[in-house]
Amino acid sequence: MFSRRVPEDRHPNRLAAALAEARRGGRPLIDLTVSNPTRVGLRYPERLLDALADPRALTYRPEPFGLREAREAVADTYVRRGVRMSADRIMLTASTSEAYSLLFKLLCDPDRASVLTPVPSYPLLDHLTRLDGITQRRYALEYHGAWTIDPVDLDRAWTGDTRVVLAVSPNNPTGSALTVRDADELVVRCAERRAALILDEVFCDYPLSDAPLPEPAPLQRHDCLLFRLGGLSKTAALPQMKLGWIAVTGPDRLVEEALDRLELIGDTYLSVSTPVQLAARRLLEGSAPVRDAIGARIRQNYAWLRHATADAPDVTVLAADGGWSAVLRVPSIEGEEALALSLLVDHRVVVHPGFLFDFAHEAFLVVSLLPPPDEFARGIGIVTERVHAA
Ligand SMILES: Cc1ncc(COP(=O)(O)O)c(C=O)c1O
Repeated sequence: MFSRRVPEDRHPNRLAAALAEARRGGRPLIDLTVSNPTRVGLRYPERLLDALADPRALTYRPEPFGLREAREAVADTYVRRGVRMSADRIMLTASTSEAYSLLFKLLCDPDRASVLTPVPSYPLLDHLTRLDGITQRRYALEYHGAWTIDPVDLDRAWTGDTRVVLAVSPNNPTGSALTVRDADELVVRCAERRAALILDEVFCDYPLSDAPLPEPAPLQRHDCLLFRLGGLSKTAALPQMKLGWIAVTGPDRLVEEALDRLELIGDTYLSVSTPVQLAARRLLEGSAPVRDAIGARIRQNYAWLRHATADAPDVTVLAADGGWSAVLRVPSIEGEEALALSLLVDHRVVVHPGFLFDFAHEAFLVVSLLPPPDEFARGIGIVTERVHAA
């Protein structure tokens, strides 16, 4: 009766089940996995949502790529980052997740195409590929004081049916941004082998140092078809608004053909609501204080994390460039799952074990940098003590 796109085994893993149980108990938890920016005590400008009441939304104007004024507002965000981008090459979507699905429809035949995805990375990529009937093959990111793409592993994963290579920069959860060399390795291969590059940049506004994240030059060469993804969910810290986008660059002929085909896909779904499109510029610009507050918070928490673990021989904070999470390497004596379960059940601290993101080996813990700093500091104090006591 049902398709194989949805996995047979949909039971929560042991940790998720224990977390649900702990939440039912009602006692407070320190949640170092929180990723919802609207639930971490940040203040949003009071009138931010006024923009959604634009009376022009009473008239429906279906546009396959989205309303021009919203696409122009999105194009301006690239220009501010020093990336040349025309509104003509931007398509609006309901979310970044939907953008992936539309691009898989554009680029991949079901059961006859593979997508290369980085590992460790964002677990939802498993579902996004599977739900579109596409084979996912992983290529490794390697840590040697910084995370970079392993080009040998990228070639190992590449097969005759590879249509898309996916990169996430900064990556979730490693926080690693593509280096110039990484970008070159990807662009050269995609151009030569007629594959498209999808670059998920949802965390691009959140560097962990004071300087903005640099744009790797090979991405501006326009050698291969490149789809950049972003959205209000991270850029404006408003996941509930449901507005994402795809920005297309590359050789002109390929871009034109891609846009021509995307127009049909966009026209089929028309999934973005009119009010959010009309509000897009004001939401992008008006959310600047929240973006700044998140930036300050993740930098403060990351700096504290490094400070608090500087003298702990058994906890190492891995270097990261940006994003909302950090990775801790811990001894693999008892296993990630047992450690995360003990932190939850015995100490009421929630962390993600590395296996959820498919780290190549144990033992890693992933923590969110979004919690209020006092709570974050308390949680990290408990984690380091518990690791040390093992
Ligand atoms: C790397 C990455 N891409 C995409 C998304 C999903 O974004 P959206 O809410 O726009 O679908 C997330 C959400 O956490 C993410 O971490």
